Amino acid sequence: MKKLFVKTYGCQMNAYDSAKMADLLAPLGYAATDAPDGADMLILNFCHIRETATEKVYSELGRLKSLKAEKARDGGRMLLAVAGCVAQAEGEEIVARQPAVDLVVGPQSYHRLPEMIARAARQQGHALETDFPALEKFDSLPEPSATGVSAFLTVQEGCDKFCTFCVVPYTRGSEQSRPPQAILREARQLAGKGARELVLLGQNVNAYNGPSSDNKRWSLARLCDALAGIEGIARIRYTTSHPRDMADDLIAAHGENPKLMPYLHLPVQSGSDAVLEAMNRQHTSDDYRRLVERIRSRRPDIALTSDFIVGFPGESDADFQATLQLVRDIGYATAFSFKYSKRPGTPASTMRKQVPEELKAARLDELQKLLLAQQYAFDDSQIGKTVAVLFEKPARRDAQLMGRTPYLQPVHVQAGPEMIGRLAQVRIERRTANSLHGTLAGKGVLA
Ligand code: 5AD
Ligand code: SF4
Repeated sequence: MKKLFVKTYGCQMNAYDSAKMADLLAPLGYAATDAPDGADMLILNFCHIRETATEKVYSELGRLKSLKAEKARDGGRMLLAVAGCVAQAEGEEIVARQPAVDLVVGPQSYHRLPEMIARAARQQGHALETDFPALEKFDSLPEPSATGVSAFLTVQEGCDKFCTFCVVPYTRGSEQSRPPQAILREARQLAGKGARELVLLGQNVNAYNGPSSDNKRWSLARLCDALAGIEGIARIRYTTSHPRDMADDLIAAHGENPKLMPYLHLPVQSGSDAVLEAMNRQHTSDDYRRLVERIRSRRPDIALTSDFIVGFPGESDADFQATLQLVRDIGYATAFSFKYSKRPGTPASTMRKQVPEELKAARLDELQKLLLAQQYAFDDSQIGKTVAVLFEKPARRDAQLMGRTPYLQPVHVQAGPEMIGRLAQVRIERRTANSLHGTLAGKGVLA
């Protein structure tokens, strides 16, 4: 067996892609290891949405280069690959700056990895494969080899929204949806291997518009309906959604499809209309409020989460106050928040009135305090209730399992390993910093 080390850095989509690459290389005799030393192949799968991952890649490559040299001294050969949207964005620049790199592979080309490896092994030169169209890559990938109780399933990629702060439309390309039949096939395979929950992934997942074999287009709501019919699948989630793409049938599905969980990650980024406009979000804060009202009219208990950016260029104190007000008005179950950071090549990076770092930090701190208080309030509201929990894995403490409520909250419960993969009623008793704790209620097992 050859040793494969994949280092993942970034979003869930990247983690999913890393697993796919490992599956894809298994037939070539590569087995995953958890240390880079002595590996036959090293893949750095880096995303650069949130941080300056580009510099991280170069410093990481600087370190790994010596492992490669060491292996060569012992007469071996280590292939060094850079993958992910960093690869897509930087392309040849990476090979130019770090000649130890053998392969640069963008997210659209993973299915061609085996071929590229063969090529790289034959020639000593560099193989570049970053501009390959379409989602056909998924259909030439092998079956997943293993899965957890909760399984990621990519249904959509890319983004046509062009928020002025974001690199995704440039690195992941335009919005593309996988055919529903291919998704259903993969979902059945996952269910067959023990998955009970599907988390549908896409940069703009609710823009899903899948080309079906009958020449019709499927919406995300329709896809969720079909997935709900698969034996073994108890829960369906999806992420990330754009407010503009929250279609009526999807909102309705939250009231009608019992397997669709009452949880929605719906990033708003800011509560100020001026900032939303400058971000090119294509909605106002009131559009968002009205949308949330419509969603809650169908599913009153839905847990809402969001992403926020503070310190976007030109953000005034009043703009920031508007964000706090929106948070108070909506009431989030949890949320991610970031300081604005410049992404080269994006419109916002050259906007005037960049916000000083200290001010960004202070605003982030204030926002996070408010969001954390809301998270605690939401978690506390579960105490005393009996809720359905899907058990995923052993918890750190002996004889306990970690499961999740419909609202994605982690719950720790005294239960035997036979409960993994099962749904049971749990009475929630208390909360610690990041999780809930409860006990099995009655006989408990639901499915
Ligand atoms: N600066 C800060 N945060 C960003 N995000 C995306 N681009 C930037 C940036 N340039 C955040 C957004 C997005 C999440 C995935 O990352 O909030 O929703
Ligand atoms: Fe980026 Fe905006 Fe697209 Fe989200 S919707 S991926 S933030 S451009």
